[in-house]
Amino acid sequence: MTTPETPELSAERRGLPPGKMPELRVMPAPADANVYGDVFGGWIMAQVDIAGSLPATRRANGRVATVAVNSFVFKNPVFIGDLLSFYADIVKVGNTSITVNVEVYAERNRLQASIVKVTEATLTYVATGPDRKPRQVPPLETF
Ligand SMILES: CC(C)(COP(=O)(O)OP(=O)(O)OC[C@H]1O[C@@H](n2cnc3c(N)ncnc32)[C@H](O)[C@@H]1OP(=O)(O)O)[C@@H](O)C(=O)NCCC(=O)NCCS
Repeated sequence: MTTPETPELSAERRGLPPGKMPELRVMPAPADANVYGDVFGGWIMAQVDIAGSLPATRRANGRVATVAVNSFVFKNPVFIGDLLSFYADIVKVGNTSITVNVEVYAERNRLQASIVKVTEATLTYVATGPDRKPRQVPPLETF
């Protein structure tokens, strides 16, 4: 095995949450920002919805629909060229619903390993059937 000439710093060393894998990593492009270079909140919300739906879909073992955005905080602006990491954790499972907390970190000025937490949100998804109606979240032991 060869050793890379310039090994990359680990996610933890770069200041990202230790021991966790992001559900999604995305870099916004110029079309996603206003004329001042700030990324649209709606673009960030769409990515958060996608990131949160991934663990919800796995837990539901099938399709889910977003029923509610319970909270959404834009803590810091996002700029074109930031590398965004979306971390999503299930915080509650109900009869048909799954609530997910999503945290978003931006790697800014990446060569200086500058990490900024930009967004935190909580969303609720509902497991749905082919008829688009709520269905029970399957018990964990069925996996
Ligand atoms: C999601 C949908 C199927 C739910 O159907 P519904 O008849 O409203 O469902 P219910 O009232 O039985 O609620 C289902 C679950 O959602 C929860 N829920 C409903 N409204 C909620 C809200 N505002 N906040 C948090 N949870 C909510 C309920 O508590 C229930 O959870 P539980 O079964 O774990 O106790 C339906 O509302 C729908 O199709 N909405 C549109 C979804 C959509 O288009 N999303 C955007 C694209 S994915």
